[in-house]
Amino acid sequence: MRLWGGRFSAATDERVADFTRSIEVDRELALDDLAGSIAHVHGLGRAGLLTAEEVTQLVAGLEGLAAEVEAGRLEWDPALEDVHMNLEAALEARVGPIGRKLHTGRSRNDQVATDLRLWARRSIDRLDAAIVAMERALVGLAEREGEAVMPGLTHIQPAQPVLFAHHLLAYVEMLERDRGRLADARRRVNVSPLGAGALAGAGYPLDREATAAELGFEGVSANSMDAVSDRDFVVEMLAAVALGMVHLSRLAEEITWWSNPRFGFVRLADAFSTGSSMMPNKKNPDPAELVRGRAARVIGSLSGMLALLKGLPLTYQRDLQEDKPPLFESVATLRASLEVMAGMVETLTVDRERMRAAAAEGHTTATAVADALVRRGLPFRTAHHVVGALVAAAEAAGLALDAVTDAMITAALGASGDPAAVALAGTAGLADELRAAARLEGALASCDVVGGTAPARVRAALAAARARLEREG
Ligand code: ARG
Repeated sequence: MRLWGGRFSAATDERVADFTRSIEVDRELALDDLAGSIAHVHGLGRAGLLTAEEVTQLVAGLEGLAAEVEAGRLEWDPALEDVHMNLEAALEARVGPIGRKLHTGRSRNDQVATDLRLWARRSIDRLDAAIVAMERALVGLAEREGEAVMPGLTHIQPAQPVLFAHHLLAYVEMLERDRGRLADARRRVNVSPLGAGALAGAGYPLDREATAAELGFEGVSANSMDAVSDRDFVVEMLAAVALGMVHLSRLAEEITWWSNPRFGFVRLADAFSTGSSMMPNKKNPDPAELVRGRAARVIGSLSGMLALLKGLPLTYQRDLQEDKPPLFESVATLRASLEVMAGMVETLTVDRERMRAAAAEGHTTATAVADALVRRGLPFRTAHHVVGALVAAAEAAGLALDAVTDAMITAALGASGDPAAVALAGTAGLADELRAAARLEGALASCDVVGGTAPARVRAALAAARARLEREG
């Protein structure tokens, strides 16, 4: 018997039943639905709509169902459309006709909004823990490879040398902001729609605050129509999740390059690589590629959710049922991606020599040499010009910037046309100073500002990140 069947004389067409059913998806909400129902029963008791004895029986029945759900023993009946009606029917089967009182003062509209908010809240908490674990993996690798120097790129071209740890800590910063965005979304998720009824508010004197408090909500929705039709909390959550995937995808992209033998910066563990069905030589970074690929799906879910909402008049429209697949899938995808990336990062090995050799390619220390000239009194524009000429001379001679001759330095200073540069030529100690600045260590040490890659700064940033993670427990 359909729970809403009173005014219907004909059975639902099989195609309609198949088309509208959501139990395969929304059974994910079962425990949230039961928690909401238990709080609602207490509320009905407080309002004098159920006797103490009825409350006890209904709560015992709902708790029994929760145990069955947790044990995976509850049988879902596809004929019962969705999780709410399945659980209501299962309750009646368990406690008898008194189960028919559960839905007093409640609609599936405020019910599903409540369930989804409870689900979102606990999912955010689980995601937060997974992000922290990923941060731990990155910080662990940064600590292990604290000395490794790598080429920092702009335009994918060699730019300036950086510590590998500095590069990894950049991702820790992104992930921290992802946590912040989720925590921010959580505050707006954590509001109770229960008592909004179908759209106009429940027709009984329910103490909405008390029920909300029992469910751990921080407040109640102020408008019943908004309460049943708002899904902007889903959009916010998807936006944070999509951005988290984008961050992981960028790291995944970098790992695919770093592990390419041409780069040879890192080697992925066998456990985090896959082979080719045809080419026996292959060792592929498939998990990283799939993180990158799945980011695309999550981005699609975010834009799909926005599209779902844009044309909906108030209040609840059945379209809203379509909020769950993208949300559930995206949250699961981010969690799985965080877990697999953490494993990949924890187990990869670094070839410091290869990294260091690449860091010096492309005259990446040129900016540090120009800065050294500025410290000797030259205007930066002149210094830039002088070092540009020096880079060209080094390249023509097949020399690295830290191996240029005194004569090349004098010539470059002279070619600038700036009398200050010409006067500097041949100054005591200058050539050695410039060659020192041109060495990787010299260039790294010169970026000595908060947030810079100077080793002392990176050590401090790493220690701060580690201390913060310790506090997370
Ligand atoms: N399965 C529905 C959903 O996910 C539950 C609410 C249905 N409400 C209704 N009036 N048909 O949105």
